[in-house]
Amino acid sequence: MTRTVYVNGEYLPETEAKVSIFDRGFLMADAVYEVTSVLDGKLIDFEGHAVRLKRSLDELDMAEPCTKEELLDIHRKLVELNGIDEGLVYLQVSRGSDGDRDFVFPSADTPPTLVLFTQNKPGLADNPAAKKGAKIISIEDIRWGRRDIKTVQLLYPSMGKMMAKKAGCDDAWLVEDGFVTEGTSNNAYFVKAGKIVTRPLSNNILHGITRKAVMRLAKEAQMEVEERLFTIDEAKAADEAFTTSASAFVMPVVEIDGVALGDGTPGPIARRLREIYLDEARKTAI
Ligand code: PDD
Repeated sequence: MTRTVYVNGEYLPETEAKVSIFDRGFLMADAVYEVTSVLDGKLIDFEGHAVRLKRSLDELDMAEPCTKEELLDIHRKLVELNGIDEGLVYLQVSRGSDGDRDFVFPSADTPPTLVLFTQNKPGLADNPAAKKGAKIISIEDIRWGRRDIKTVQLLYPSMGKMMAKKAGCDDAWLVEDGFVTEGTSNNAYFVKAGKIVTRPLSNNILHGITRKAVMRLAKEAQMEVEERLFTIDEAKAADEAFTTSASAFVMPVVEIDGVALGDGTPGPIARRLREIYLDEARKTAI
């Protein structure tokens, strides 16, 4: 089926959607994005993604392409037009183009480029990968210093994912100055003696929307959560580990750099958090 996508005010078949070759998203990675999951045909944590998008735009002095209400309408319309029951909505805003390549930003009244499309992912919630758990390698974090802004500069995270695949693993955790920052496209956690440990928010990591919800739900379930720097060796010695993201929810981690965690299967806290999160996400979806 040909997808219907959204480009700058128009709903078009994906084969007919066009963006200028001078677009700064294309030439300079001068663009930000959001990925919102869909369960039962409804959006998960739309509000959180909309707030973070606004923050990313503000940090880069980029104009808002439309109101939050309009964004919600576009998301909902695409989900409906493409018959998405479980999947993702990808949104990207770039600084647009004034018809040439220049390091200097185009004038502030240059319209931003707004693109949205859906990804159909039947079985996203009941993902067999979550029952198996993910195998992780650690690699050096050589990304830029403003990882709190959700830009489309994803070459190094893609390379990290490929390094993991090459090593027969699923994903990579990034390590800077001896401490784990996050995963290539997720936030990272380990569990030791019942306590969940994750890195505190800063410019060094993305402020995950799923992270926020999972931390709240963990505390509500009387689980102990500590935000502090941690090393890959601590994670390797953990009872269990997991990652969070809008696209994979809570994903158990069963191996780090060839070392099996616990008995090498998804741990009870990660499994429970996945269950609680999915339950809450479905209840609050809009
Ligand atoms: N990635 N850290 C990084 C570097 C990410 O790219 C992501 C999300 C997260 C988790 O954030 P959230 O819970 O808001 O999805 C953390 C998305 C899913 C992606 O790039 O596809």
